[in-house]
Amino acid sequence: MWLFRSRRSTRRTTEDSSEDVKIPSHLAVFMDGNGRWAAKRGLPRSAGHRVGAEKLEDLCSWCGELGVQYLTVYAVSTENWSRPEEEVHALMELFVEFFERFDPALEREGIRVRFAGDIAALPERIRTVVRRAETNSLHRSRMQLIIAMNYGGRREIAQAVRDIARQVADGTILPDEVDESTVASHLYLPDVPDPDLVIRPSGELRLSNFLLWESAYSELWFDHVLWPDFSREDLMRAFRSFSSRKRRFGKVETP
Ligand code: IPE
Ligand code: IPE
Ligand code: MG
Repeated sequence: MWLFRSRRSTRRTTEDSSEDVKIPSHLAVFMDGNGRWAAKRGLPRSAGHRVGAEKLEDLCSWCGELGVQYLTVYAVSTENWSRPEEEVHALMELFVEFFERFDPALEREGIRVRFAGDIAALPERIRTVVRRAETNSLHRSRMQLIIAMNYGGRREIAQAVRDIARQVADGTILPDEVDESTVASHLYLPDVPDPDLVIRPSGELRLSNFLLWESAYSELWFDHVLWPDFSREDLMRAFRSFSSRKRRFGKVETP
């Protein structure tokens, strides 16, 4: 399963075919549709979350192999805490279990783990897992796995604004000096480049508070597949579409 190769070029011929596919440097993925996947099978929603967590292991494997450098996954949003208590509890248990089971593979394959989100608001037990996963993986450099946990784009921006307001109040910076780069430097992971491609499975066509600032110029890919059914071929279809996009960033194309 863990067949990583240290390939880093942007365009590559995949194992799947002879086609030339452009690989996004930073891929962001919604892990969405777990509940519907379970409901279709008459299972509790937590069963869908379990299979969804296992699918993340596959996604890391595919992305590492293909040369993605940053993989951000939307795991739990700030709004997801409003779900029934038993579902929130199941999500937290799965989170702890995921790291216990998966960390050796992450270590073997050189995957650094980082978190984006309001981590301070999480229970101490979860914060301990977060701290341990980040500290233990600091030296790994093949790919960064960024887990958006208790993440909300609006909360992230509000927190950045609060930090900047404090700096203005204590005289560290002047109001007129605040620009886009100031805001960007106060986001959760300022050193991580913006996502090149955002994939949302499950058929929903909305951003649901994910990477609101960072995805300003990301390419988007929506798919009907539910996250637990997401396959390598689904990923390649998204990459093939990404390969054909013309990213203009507001400019005109140069001939
Ligand atoms: C995504 O699946 C996982 C989380 C939001 C935690 P959902 O639980 O949203 O599944 P659906 O969208 O209800 O099917
Ligand atoms: C977004 O999905 C959060 C995650 C995938 C973790 P939701 O299922 O919470 O989003 P909505 O409620 O459909 O917008
Ligand atoms: Mg959902």
